[in-house]
Amino acid sequence: MEAANLPRHVGIIMDGNGRWAKLRHKPRSFGHSAGMDAMIEIVKRAGEREIHYITVYALSTENLKNRPKEELDELFGLLRKYFSHHVKELYKRGAKVKVIGDKSPLPADVQKLLEDGEKNSPPDGKFTLTFAINYGSRAEIARAAESLIKSGEPVTEESLASGLYTYGLPEPDLIIRTGGEMRLSNFLLWQSAYAELYFTPVLFPDFTPDEFDKALEEYSRRTRRFGGI
Ligand code: FPP
Repeated sequence: MEAANLPRHVGIIMDGNGRWAKLRHKPRSFGHSAGMDAMIEIVKRAGEREIHYITVYALSTENLKNRPKEELDELFGLLRKYFSHHVKELYKRGAKVKVIGDKSPLPADVQKLLEDGEKNSPPDGKFTLTFAINYGSRAEIARAAESLIKSGEPVTEESLASGLYTYGLPEPDLIIRTGGEMRLSNFLLWQSAYAELYFTPVLFPDFTPDEFDKALEEYSRRTRRFGGI
């Protein structure tokens, strides 16, 4: 794969943990934990491939509203584990951590761990790993619009984009969704206007670095015209 044909920014909708666990007659938490392990390996591969930005959908606003408390507690437990332990290995590999979404309804200690995760990132990191947590694109756009209206600034594509959580990140070139569904589920809707979409039936815990490479290969064969000819 030519570096020139690689995406600069990849977004991943990590779907299928629950089904993966069910196939093994295990609780959903087992699937999320395996999903976290898969994510760690994908991020390493992305770093090796010199992909400069990777954004993972770890928890949507809708997940937070609609999942049973026990499952959310398990997910918060994984975030605690990740941000107090695994994150250090990531820093060593040159990752800068960013979190997008509304942290305010999360448990206070999780909020603190996420903030520390961002703050302690190496300033000269090689790539940016963004976690979308209690994130929803529509709420993000509405929030940006509201703050523009309050400020009295004219609403333009640029001014609105500068009020999004992702301000400063390039737009995603490739969005990967595992688990077989073919939709974006409120993930980076504004930012993905010209992203290439890659859907795979592979359930996220089975999404190995080699599967990730397949998505990159498919991307490298796509022709992006951005509305031109
Ligand atoms: C969707 O699968 C996945 C999630 C709601 C959570 C994604 C979280 C991880 C991969 C763990 C990440 C860990 C950290 C620390 C960021 P699903 O449960 O909806 O699967 P299903 O569609 O098969 O039920």
